[in-house]
Amino acid sequence: MINQEKINFFKNMEKIGLALTFDDVRLKTKYTDVRPVDVCLDTKFSKHVSLKMPIVSAAMDSVTEYEMAIEMAKMGGIGIIHRNLSPKEQAEQVAKVKAYHAAYIPEPVCVYEDETMDSVFKKRKENNFFFHTFPVLSRDNKLEGMLYKENFEFCNDYSLLVKNVMTKNVVTAKKGISLQSVYDIMQKNKQKVLPIVDEQRKLCGMYLYNDVKRILSDFSTMYNLDKKGRLIVGAAIGVLNDAFERLDLLMKEEVDVVVMDTAHADSKIVIDTLKQIKKKYKIDVVVGNITEASSAKRLIEAGADGIKVGQGPGSACTTRIVAGVGCPQVTAIFNCAQVAAKYNVPICADGGIKYSGDLPIAIGAGANSIMVGNILAGTKETPGDTFFFEGRLWKTYRGMDSLGAIQKNRTAKLRFIMNEEEVKAVPEGVEGQIPYKGPVKDILFQYIGGLRYGMGYTGSKTIKELQEKATFHRISPAGLSESHPHKLYITKDAPNYAPQL
Ligand code: XMP
Repeated sequence: MINQEKINFFKNMEKIGLALTFDDVRLKTKYTDVRPVDVCLDTKFSKHVSLKMPIVSAAMDSVTEYEMAIEMAKMGGIGIIHRNLSPKEQAEQVAKVKAYHAAYIPEPVCVYEDETMDSVFKKRKENNFFFHTFPVLSRDNKLEGMLYKENFEFCNDYSLLVKNVMTKNVVTAKKGISLQSVYDIMQKNKQKVLPIVDEQRKLCGMYLYNDVKRILSDFSTMYNLDKKGRLIVGAAIGVLNDAFERLDLLMKEEVDVVVMDTAHADSKIVIDTLKQIKKKYKIDVVVGNITEASSAKRLIEAGADGIKVGQGPGSACTTRIVAGVGCPQVTAIFNCAQVAAKYNVPICADGGIKYSGDLPIAIGAGANSIMVGNILAGTKETPGDTFFFEGRLWKTYRGMDSLGAIQKNRTAKLRFIMNEEEVKAVPEGVEGQIPYKGPVKDILFQYIGGLRYGMGYTGSKTIKELQEKATFHRISPAGLSESHPHKLYITKDAPNYAPQL
């Protein structure tokens, strides 16, 4: 559906050379029969990666490592693991997210019944296996028994063959069994591992009791899961070698999407890297950041599966001030989304969210998802410790192009696509601190609630409807000051409002 009123609004602004951001506009309210509780927040981050709510946690070293990514996926969104980590460390973070909701091990490490315990012991040491549970197979790959921790502990003679030490008569189950039945069998037999076998008793995989129990007691339909039932997760990559080195390891951990994370994506180096990635790997690549429609077109035609929009709106960014470039975020989203919609490529609006009301505005302007750093910063799940300052608990929040972040890891410098000395001298971000906020799910609850209300006020049952229906008022500084509480001292903190710092 073409919303001519919205198009005219932005065209008129363009005619007078005016680009707008969140504080410049409010959505027009409309007749509604939509209750906020009934809205559907399903959307897309990239062509093949769906979200159950449109919030994405930023690839920043003070925002997203595995703990944040797990919470984001549990709430229906996705977290993007930052790249101020070595490729190996970053892949390990992805593996931790994937392990969180995986009770089923499709390819367990096995041993053979005719090897000695000594050879198993050596394998454990050489491969750094921290676990002691091994299915025991015959040479024609049939399950014959299991080695558990107790079998290792009570074995005094390591020259013995595995078949003389293993536990025999292990209870098994067939493929396709439900998680609840797996749990019931394990409970009944007091067995902490349940091997799954086929008709010939060949091993197909195995379930672990602690994980089965945790998943059954902690499950929500909001969980954003991959085809194998594990939480989804993304990871940031750079350009050239950085991208390929990371992708080789990330693909092994079955990352769901990668985000090419640069300060200016409409550049030869990004486009060349993107084309090579699309030739070599089967993975969705979200590319950013940009702010112009022509840039969106170039990236989509080069193979981008999603576009990330935002140059300088972020709370810890100084790009617009340092380099004098960029475009206020709402106009940037609108311009890029107009192009991306023609190709069916999702847009992620990155940065600048201060209040929950900015979310429906971003979507109304055309975004499919919104990447946030500041609103998640200071929560329990962000990397780094809390510290006391002036009687209060705080956590660090810093731009990825701040001096501190750049100095931590040289790969971050590739964001700039400049040489090392220049980068050290000219950061495009700052470092700061945010009051400790507690668990991220409580914070997101408020933001998602605000988005639901915005959808209710505009009569939008779905994200798509909000994108299609939204129309805007341009507001003046007086209108903005009227919008915030005024002429009173706030005496009680609201969970979703604090005056701007
Ligand atoms: P918020 O407003 O949520 O924005 O804090 C998060 C986004 O800011 C971007 N980012 C930076 N941009 N210099 C920049 O110009 C920086 O140092 C920097 N660090 C993060 C990034 O896109 C993030 O998602």
